[in-house]
Amino acid sequence: MSTSSDSQQLRKQRVAAAAVAELTEGMILGVGTGSTVNAFIDALGPWASRLAGAVSSSEASTTKLRALGIPILDLNDTDGLGLYIDGADETNGDLQLIKGGGAALTREKIIAAAAARFVCIVDESKLVSTLGSFPLPVEVIPMARNLVARQLQLLGGQPRWREGVITDNGNHILDIHGLHITDPVALEQRINQITGVVAVGLFAARPADLLLIGTADSVRRISRSD
Ligand code: 5RP
Repeated sequence: MSTSSDSQQLRKQRVAAAAVAELTEGMILGVGTGSTVNAFIDALGPWASRLAGAVSSSEASTTKLRALGIPILDLNDTDGLGLYIDGADETNGDLQLIKGGGAALTREKIIAAAAARFVCIVDESKLVSTLGSFPLPVEVIPMARNLVARQLQLLGGQPRWREGVITDNGNHILDIHGLHITDPVALEQRINQITGVVAVGLFAARPADLLLIGTADSVRRISRSD
């Protein structure tokens, strides 16, 4: 008997296969984090010896990539990345994203900034008209957590500490609940300016270039140039 989690996994596998079709021989690939990316890494086997290497956004993805024999590179040892593949917690039709549900947002932002092309892979449940139903993650320096939380409250949301979670960079996460983000670029800039913030999981100034959306029977493509 098929369950809804089976069908969600099938959507992830379908969109992962579509992302594999974006790879080119000898490229350095940026790889994100999460269950959709895990489906993508699971489909990467035949490409293991055809990639120059990967820059990974998390320890979890690094472990899976290494198990396939894909060399893990330090971003500093590259001249940038041809392609970055990652998931998202929410996306709007302008390919602006909320990311960081897996607490890897800072490294993901760095990799997105370094990548010539960012392909975001999601299932259709992630597509929204206005970002903000998913609580917006903000990575903060631990000693500044309450200071930042007070500033975030002034923006109209309710920041909550993701207690018990320490990022791969040794920091804390505040999730801002109750936002209705009508100007994602402005909000991203505003949160970036708060002292103690390392990164905000709003990918608006640098959105995805291509969105691949896994549906029940196909993969829908939305390109930034559409
Ligand atoms: C991790 C992320 C992920 O891309 C996001 O949480 C989506 O994950 P999933 O594919 O498991 O739904 O931003 O920090």
